[in-house]
Amino acid sequence: MSIKNKTGIPYYITTPIYYPSAKLHIGHAYCTTIADTLARFKRLAGYDVFFLTGSDEHGQKIQKTAESAGVTPIEYVDKIVASFQELWKRLEISNDDFLRTSEKRHHEVVQEIFRRIRAKGDIYKGEYTGLYCTPCESYWTELQLDENGCCPDCHRPVEKVSEEAYFFKMSKYADAVLKHIEENPDFLEPKSRRNEMINFIKRGLEDLCISRTSFDWGIPVPDDEKHVVYVWFDALSNYLTAIGFLDDPEKFKKFWPADLHLVGKEIVRFHTIIWGCILMALGIELPKKVYGHGWLIVEGDKMSKSKGNVVDPILLIEEFGADAIRYFLLREITLGQDGNFNRDALITRINADLANDLGNLLHRTLNMIDKFQGGILLETSGETELDSEIRSEALKTVEEYYNLMETMQISDAVKTIWTFISRANKYIDETMPWKLAKDESQKQNLANVLYNLAESLRIVGILISPLMPNTARKIHEQLKISEPFEKITIEDAATFGKIEKNHEVGKPEALFPRIEIEKPEPVQKAEKKKSPAKKSEEELISIEDFSKIHLRVVKVVTAEKIPETDSLLKLTVDPGDGDIREIVSGVARYYSPEELVGKNVIVVMNLKPTKIRGVVSQGMILAAGKGNKLEVLTTEMPVGAKVK
Ligand code: MSP
Repeated sequence: MSIKNKTGIPYYITTPIYYPSAKLHIGHAYCTTIADTLARFKRLAGYDVFFLTGSDEHGQKIQKTAESAGVTPIEYVDKIVASFQELWKRLEISNDDFLRTSEKRHHEVVQEIFRRIRAKGDIYKGEYTGLYCTPCESYWTELQLDENGCCPDCHRPVEKVSEEAYFFKMSKYADAVLKHIEENPDFLEPKSRRNEMINFIKRGLEDLCISRTSFDWGIPVPDDEKHVVYVWFDALSNYLTAIGFLDDPEKFKKFWPADLHLVGKEIVRFHTIIWGCILMALGIELPKKVYGHGWLIVEGDKMSKSKGNVVDPILLIEEFGADAIRYFLLREITLGQDGNFNRDALITRINADLANDLGNLLHRTLNMIDKFQGGILLETSGETELDSEIRSEALKTVEEYYNLMETMQISDAVKTIWTFISRANKYIDETMPWKLAKDESQKQNLANVLYNLAESLRIVGILISPLMPNTARKIHEQLKISEPFEKITIEDAATFGKIEKNHEVGKPEALFPRIEIEKPEPVQKAEKKKSPAKKSEEELISIEDFSKIHLRVVKVVTAEKIPETDSLLKLTVDPGDGDIREIVSGVARYYSPEELVGKNVIVVMNLKPTKIRGVVSQGMILAAGKGNKLEVLTTEMPVGAKVK
């Protein structure tokens, strides 16, 4: 396959517009990073890209928060939205527009959409009595609530509200949207989300309440200004505003229907069903694709302010740089699935993949060109099997990468690049340029190898440019490629041999410094070095050895702190056979004495007694610990039960 630039083909990609209700966290940054990478890839592939993000500023929640902060809603959102824009800048997000729903251009569009649908008879006035979740800005029916009668999305209480309101005839479009989802397999991805939406519609769509009178921070309903437009109706319309729905028909024609609405999985319903019905009522085509990505999870839980597990992207960018964070998010998480954010895993990736694999390849290559050929890439001629292999691997990588990126398999595309980087590092080890340099008769071979390495790096630089724009630019600059960085396209990567002969490269500069991980205790270090396979026989224990340890469930009867110590508790435990005994345990930093009394815990019964702070300790209670956390192992099993 030959890769040709898709010159001039329009491509419209959007992220959701974010609520300015709190600071953005790394989960939001995940969504925007994926969209940015796809937008950059499409530009690289020649498309005429329009990439939109923005802020969803209206609604009761914002109004209440602003009131309690003693400011007006617009003062409140102005400040937070500025912090979004700052974050996107620091993360190298290349959006072509940033839409704020508080802007005049957007008000006009929403009001016009409202007018058109009302004129058609698909918006009518009625009385709304329903259950409303303020944090999610969502109405629910009894049937949709969770098992505790709370919001099925955020599981917080809903309020009963009753007021005059406008309704949108969603029920009229339910069948058509269902048909659209069923007949267009590309419309909603990943496939797993399709069935969810199909079932949702099949359970029956009610008309949607699209106005509120209980607050006024929103877009007024045209000709009935005591109502404001429902925030989702308002927000979804942003995708039309930004491409000139009302004021730039040419631009609108060029970019609509959108190629991709990239959204989190919990808002797929709004983007397929509600948005689908609104567009059908307007007589406008539906977007080509809605893709529902998974969530970034921290220690098994979705990030949220109330759970206190929010990871601040600005702090991460300051510590590790934007490209490292982008790389981690794109490589570590399979699009469509949930993925874990973990600091240790991030550092491991930076050290192994970025500092080591990529950084070393660049450094070694430029260093050798400098040392052996005075920084000049000489004329190539003839080639060995290894040379032709590295060339064909490079081109195969470009093709695989291109196909994977076109089908949004981003993490696989990243892996493909790194497989090639490893191959190139191996090529250095196999060809041993330092040996060739010592042998006059190998001069041509050396020139070939160094040229192939520089070309490989040039291609890698292009492929990583959508993921890590800064690093790509640094590679481009260190190789001193004459073409301006902004003009490079995917076609440039699909040709091996573009660097001119006698081209002078630059001096190597480190791309990523290695991150020092806190040094473990010497004992742990010694243990870590040994892989299980290498452990000597005597370190392994047999089942007989293990059975020598008597583990028993006991009840903690009394507990008290041992004076003048911070960490020790004296426990009296009952093993159920009358043999009440005392145990000294080092858990006082993690448990108060009262917390342990009455608990069934596990004790090593046949540990040699030992005197600690004047108390004879007859056993040891089991606990699990990591870092600065420790938990005593408790059980529901009755006292006296054996642990085996
Ligand atoms: N304002 C609406 C969207 C309106 S679009 C017309 C909204 N805003 S949001 O700020 O709550 O969320 C914006 C996006 O961030 C959603 O796609 C959501 O899934 C995503 N994320 C929020 N937390 C996330 C993670 N922990 N992980 C991944 N994405 C997450 O919804």
